[in-house]
Amino acid sequence: METAFTDKDTYQDFFDPEEYLNTYYTPKSGILVLDGFLDFALKKLHEYFTTRGVKGKTLIDIGHGPTIYQDLSACEAFDEIIGADYTDRNREYYERSLRNEPGTFDWTNVIQKVCDMEGKGTSVEEKRQKLKNTVKKTLKCDVLKSNPLEPLVMPKADCLLTVGCLGFACSDLDTYRNVLKNLSSLLKVGGHVIIGELLNCSPYLSGDKMFFSLVLTEEFLRSAITETGFEIVDLEVSDRKYDMNQFCKYDSTLLVLARKVRDV
Ligand SMILES: C[S@@+](CC[C@H](N)C(=O)[O-])C[C@H]1O[C@@H](n2cnc3c(N)ncnc32)[C@H](O)[C@@H]1O
Repeated sequence: METAFTDKDTYQDFFDPEEYLNTYYTPKSGILVLDGFLDFALKKLHEYFTTRGVKGKTLIDIGHGPTIYQDLSACEAFDEIIGADYTDRNREYYERSLRNEPGTFDWTNVIQKVCDMEGKGTSVEEKRQKLKNTVKKTLKCDVLKSNPLEPLVMPKADCLLTVGCLGFACSDLDTYRNVLKNLSSLLKVGGHVIIGELLNCSPYLSGDKMFFSLVLTEEFLRSAITETGFEIVDLEVSDRKYDMNQFCKYDSTLLVLARKVRDV
């Protein structure tokens, strides 16, 4: 089925944080839980922020949406995390989740998994506090702008993390390449970018609305990342374990860690 590109203003008006979380992340029935994506992402992020040694002062989480799982390992390795997303509702929901406000999505079992991987005996409550204290602010961000945090001009960050955002924010592959350049402007030379994507993904359903997805392949991502001034440190693809869902088809997921080697 053809789905027209979902522009950022459609995200602003129609992307509902609760509907998205219920469809994709509910324990035992969420699509991204059943198909193995969530466990794969948690494992790779743990690896990057521990054995791979990615650490520093500032990490910006680009397009976090309403989820916090992607920051659970990062908050041990960075002094501060800055959240950045286009929509008001996603930024608000993310902040409310950090405060674990009543009625927000329950991440307890995911937080426990990360604490278990870290093996330091940290409790779920301690981890929640650590993440809340590490995320210093959330900012409006548009990855399509040459300075995605415009009008702010921020000191360059040590790391950018973007999971499940760019393939939905870009209408075509040339735009994706340009967005990598836009993001690079926020990052120090020598800093790291971590990108998570669904490969060969069809449009996805959230609530009663279909959202566009750019079809990405491992080959395209390898070339786009290296052409835009990064050197790939690690790239892993995980085949999808569950393929019954008709609304969001994709065949695998990819996590990549790359180092910025030059300005572009
Ligand atoms: C699928 S959702 C978030 C996914 C979430 N990070 C996860 O791992 O499940 C995609 C996100 O991209 C954001 N987004 C879409 N277009 C954007 C743009 N031009 N700039 C920044 N964020 C954008 C949306 O607001 C939304 O939060």
